[in-house]
Amino acid sequence: MPDVMHTLKVDLGSRTDDRSYPIYIGRGLLSDSAHWQTLVEHRGVVLVTDNHVAPLYAEQLKAALGPISLMTEVVLPAGEAQKNMASVQQILDASLEDRHERQSLFIALGGGVVGDMTGFAAACFMRGADFVQVPTTLLAQVDSSVGGKTGVNHAMGKNLVGAFHQPIQVLIDLDTLQTLSEREFAAGLAEVIKYGLIRDAAFFDWLIGHVGELKARDSGALAHAIERSCRIKAGVVAEDEREGGVRAHLNFGHTFGHAIERIQGYGEWLHGEAVAAGMVIASRLSASRGTLEASAVEQLIEFNETLGLPTSLPAGISSAQLLSAMGSDKKVAAGKVRYILLSALGEAIVTERVTEDDIARVITA
Ligand SMILES: NC(=O)c1ccc[n+]([C@@H]2O[C@H](COP(=O)([O-])OP(=O)(O)OC[C@H]3O[C@@H](n4cnc5c(N)ncnc54)[C@H](O)[C@@H]3O)[C@@H](O)[C@H]2O)c1
Repeated sequence: MPDVMHTLKVDLGSRTDDRSYPIYIGRGLLSDSAHWQTLVEHRGVVLVTDNHVAPLYAEQLKAALGPISLMTEVVLPAGEAQKNMASVQQILDASLEDRHERQSLFIALGGGVVGDMTGFAAACFMRGADFVQVPTTLLAQVDSSVGGKTGVNHAMGKNLVGAFHQPIQVLIDLDTLQTLSEREFAAGLAEVIKYGLIRDAAFFDWLIGHVGELKARDSGALAHAIERSCRIKAGVVAEDEREGGVRAHLNFGHTFGHAIERIQGYGEWLHGEAVAAGMVIASRLSASRGTLEASAVEQLIEFNETLGLPTSLPAGISSAQLLSAMGSDKKVAAGKVRYILLSALGEAIVTERVTEDDIARVITA
């Protein structure tokens, strides 16, 4: 029996253009045939997934969809290296060859890679088809499936080609997290604690106090953590859909994290692992400016350690290397690195007023 534990709304409404959509969080949602059948009534379906997720969940979802007159399934090889135009082309080719129309519904079943590419393919298909996100990694459930950023990587860098295209629904089935590897799961929790740090001190405290249940993937604890995270992300996106202002707060820890990924070469650490280390650096910087209690930094470090997440730069990377890699981040505005720091636990600010010495000091401390 499907059990919808939380329903949230991403509020992007205006009188002339209402693109608001619901996020459903619960158990057994993947096989909720009544829900799926209302969603796909009289439409073709383009189901996109990857070759890790397909054997786990595609049959379950297809059974719930029931008989569909026009159904195309695209199974892409898993992994960040596949997040490119060739994969999007494959989705578009299959959809056009099968003669889908703009009314067809694209369904992204998988992690952030599948979600970003399916959303981008849907944005391009006949100038914009509807799509539904069915995120199956924790990172995708709390971050990439919400907010409408879609796209692919380019040889020049990550996520350089894309479009804003909001899904019409996000269906988060907690049961899918049970098959996720421990490393991917922990990397997702790094994005979860980010929301506490930047927006909600009480949530941060709750996460610190429930790390054991989270690590054990207790459904009740997960439902709460995912609901709070999605609510915070939905609020930020509703306020600033295209990242002109507060949406930048979501990049807390990411400026340092992206630099680590660039120096190491992508694929060494997972994105969430690099962000985990980046958040410790950004928190230390905030503490050195007197805006964050040192005890909060210690709690964050302990949280990371419990989950096997990094707490500092990878061995062999110097602060000079980190600074130079940060200068080439795409989020650098007019040549200046913009840092997201904490003005208090649960409150983020954007500032350019951080010196190289400030950073070197907290890294070598
Ligand atoms: N659009 C956004 O706002 C946004 C935000 C953050 C990240 N992202 C993007 O998300 C991507 C990372 O997403 P990700 O961490 O989900 O990576 P991913 O999609 O590569 O998934 C990680 C691995 O887990 C496997 N997997 C997925 N679900 C599984 C399950 N339930 N059980 C077992 N294995 C499963 C996948 O096949 C893959 O091998 C990056 O490309 C990043 O740029 C986008």
